[in-house]
Amino acid sequence: MLPVPRNTPNDHSLETDGLGDVEFGADIKEKEFLLDPSVAFFNHGSYGTVPRRVLRLQQEYNEEREVHPDFWTRLNAKRYYDQARSALAKFVGARVENLQLAVNATQAINCVVRSFPFNSGDGLLNCSYTYGAITNLCEDFTSRIRPDVENIVVQLAFPPTSEDSVVEKYEDILNKHPNIKMAIIDHITSPSSVVMPLKKLVDLCHSRGVKVVVDGAHCLGQMSLNLEEHGAEAYVANAHKWLYTPRGCAILYLSQDSHTWARPPATSWHFTGPLDMQFFDQGTQDHVPFICARHGLEFYEALGGMDRIVGYTRAVAEEAVQLIEREVGLKPAKIPKSMEAPNLRMLEFPPLKAFPYSVENLWKLHRALFGDMSVFGLVVPVDGKFYLRISVQVYTSKEDIAALVQVLKKFFQDNV
Ligand SMILES: Cc1ncc(COP(=O)(O)O)c(C=O)c1O
Repeated sequence: MLPVPRNTPNDHSLETDGLGDVEFGADIKEKEFLLDPSVAFFNHGSYGTVPRRVLRLQQEYNEEREVHPDFWTRLNAKRYYDQARSALAKFVGARVENLQLAVNATQAINCVVRSFPFNSGDGLLNCSYTYGAITNLCEDFTSRIRPDVENIVVQLAFPPTSEDSVVEKYEDILNKHPNIKMAIIDHITSPSSVVMPLKKLVDLCHSRGVKVVVDGAHCLGQMSLNLEEHGAEAYVANAHKWLYTPRGCAILYLSQDSHTWARPPATSWHFTGPLDMQFFDQGTQDHVPFICARHGLEFYEALGGMDRIVGYTRAVAEEAVQLIEREVGLKPAKIPKSMEAPNLRMLEFPPLKAFPYSVENLWKLHRALFGDMSVFGLVVPVDGKFYLRISVQVYTSKEDIAALVQVLKKFFQDNV
């Protein structure tokens, strides 16, 4: 049994020995991750993967909790949770009282939209790049929950030609629909992998009195953030994608003004208490992923932080795209450089006779392309075409890229 003083949190911290100089690629994959070394894995973007060291700490917290579930849950959990909130707040340039935690981006955006005090006739804006689950939220919210609110969608072509072309589209739609009161703007779109001109869009929306909720699900760890300066009323990002955190942890930034109306998904015991207690107590749940976000961040920083990590992933992503284009002939989507996501790349598929564009064919195509899954990337449908979306992480190696190229070559030799 662990020697846990009953109501005192232990001082957990990540063991960082060797992380500063571990080689990225095959070396870090074998030493620090549980990923099957024989699998070339190109889809970190969907669910992330948790480093061994962080998993060990997660297990320590799990065991510590079981020694005395009551003391742990009633006393220790909130203290650990606040340590994580403080570390995350510092990382994203937010005042700690403005940063709450939620289990994932979908739930965090749901709670913001559902708690906003729309008046009858107001509009909710999203766009044709909005993530599918959030598109569903907008449709459900404006048809079933608040049918008196209008769902307005700005249509954007893929790939965008420039930041300004996107801003113009938003300007047009805001002109046409002065009833828009809230806009959901993706920071990195998914699956289309475009970095939106966030500051320009936030300023534009604010000039029309429109509140902005940013879906930054992919941004924690990929983009440098200063949330108090971004100016949006709400900003959501997953720690379980690019911040090495166990699944079930997203940040939800709420500006001071938003505290008056934003509420967590469930009304629970602390619904009249401070906002952080309301978010903390969403009924009985597993707080350990939230707590471990601090250690995911320690892992990230011990590897050298954004400069070293994104320096590596950008370079490897570029190399992969060039090699695939040269060897296989797939064209990278023409996303302007300033709108390219550091760790994600899109490669356009030519029309395939055996797999005409349809949602049913999407999974058939995955099976035909990746077979036993020893190489895996995500094929995504965007604007009437299939694309291969590749995610690059610190464990992506030259050998992984070579394996991907071989699989693609064989598939396109047989299918075009
Ligand atoms: C832009 C965007 N929003 C929301 C989500 C949903 O994230 P989660 O499944 O963690 O709620 C994702 C997931 O990939 C995403 O890419």
